[in-house]
Amino acid sequence: MPTVSIVVESKFGNTAKVAEAIAKSLMDSGFGEVKVSRISEADAGSSAQADVILIGSPNHVGGPTRTVKKFMKAMSKSDLSGKSMAFFDTYIGKDIGKAVRKMESDMASRNSRVRIVSPGLSLRVKSMKGPLDEGEIDKADEFVRALSAKIKNP
Ligand SMILES: Cc1cc2nc3c(=O)[nH]c(=O)nc-3n(C[C@H](O)[C@H](O)[C@H](O)COP(=O)(O)O)c2cc1C
Repeated sequence: MPTVSIVVESKFGNTAKVAEAIAKSLMDSGFGEVKVSRISEADAGSSAQADVILIGSPNHVGGPTRTVKKFMKAMSKSDLSGKSMAFFDTYIGKDIGKAVRKMESDMASRNSRVRIVSPGLSLRVKSMKGPLDEGEIDKADEFVRALSAKIKNP
């Protein structure tokens, strides 16, 4: 089964919770090794070794954080042929999917070999520090179902 690397940035812990929910769901779906790393401890080159790479960011001013942007730039220099990538974010109010879409287009423009699996997952928080809105975390399972179907049947 494909190995998965999940790299997440999270200031208040909400996006990290989403990463854990995705990881659990992936393991329940029979994925091999699933590793979750905080971006501050992750290395772009090593994370790029996994078959499936997921990157999560809170929405900060309409897009991913600066740290995430830098990490993606570093990762885009790796050989990503045959790899799949998908993105997730957390947001407040009406910014659903905004950071996800920016991460998707940023990575697609930097590396033409990687396969971006879209749409990503975007979950709403109640306020700046969270928590996640009711029922939002449950969407992680559906995201993983769609992701694994797309990975198995490209
Ligand atoms: C500096 C900063 C800027 C933010 N800008 C936005 C924004 O433009 N749109 C939005 O929906 N949420 C914005 N937020 C709210 C974050 O999305 C929210 O804090 C985040 O989802 C919480 O996730 P975390 O616990 O993983 O940090 C901002 C938060 C911070 C700290």
